[in-house]
Amino acid sequence: MSFEPPSENRKISRRRFLLSAWAASIVVLSGQSFSALLRFFQPMAEPGSFGGKVNIGNVSEFPLGSVTHVQKGRFYVSHVDEGILAMWHRCTHLGCTVPWSDGEDQFHCPCHGGLYNTKGEVLGGPPPRPLDLFPVEIADGDIIVDTSHVIERSQYDPAQATPV
Ligand code: FES
Repeated sequence: MSFEPPSENRKISRRRFLLSAWAASIVVLSGQSFSALLRFFQPMAEPGSFGGKVNIGNVSEFPLGSVTHVQKGRFYVSHVDEGILAMWHRCTHLGCTVPWSDGEDQFHCPCHGGLYNTKGEVLGGPPPRPLDLFPVEIADGDIIVDTSHVIERSQYDPAQATPV
């Protein structure tokens, strides 16, 4: 058995292979970049869903004291004394979806036991701040929530509610 050094042809072949691999990777990267560019110019969200403005209907459908989950917008509408709050259903601790608990009359995060009241204020557990808000406007009696803009807050302020 003898060992033969690589031939000149084999060296050229390897060089060609590396050039081909390099060219192929450039083509793939260019394709991915072009695809990302196309997505950048597409609308961020479908109208009426999370990421855009969501019309959830007439104010009369949300009586004082009610807490309503709007799944397509990923938020809760809470009608408190001062007006309407739209709160992202995402826990401010580690981001779990926070369900409203009718029996407890509070939001109760299943992940680490975070508790929030109807205004989104922290009542207990590890969340560092109240539930985040989305801007609310009332147009022709309809509640419109802008889920493209998240408002973080350190505490509840009555001015955060949109009067109805
Ligand atoms: S994610 Fe909600 S309490 Fe931790």
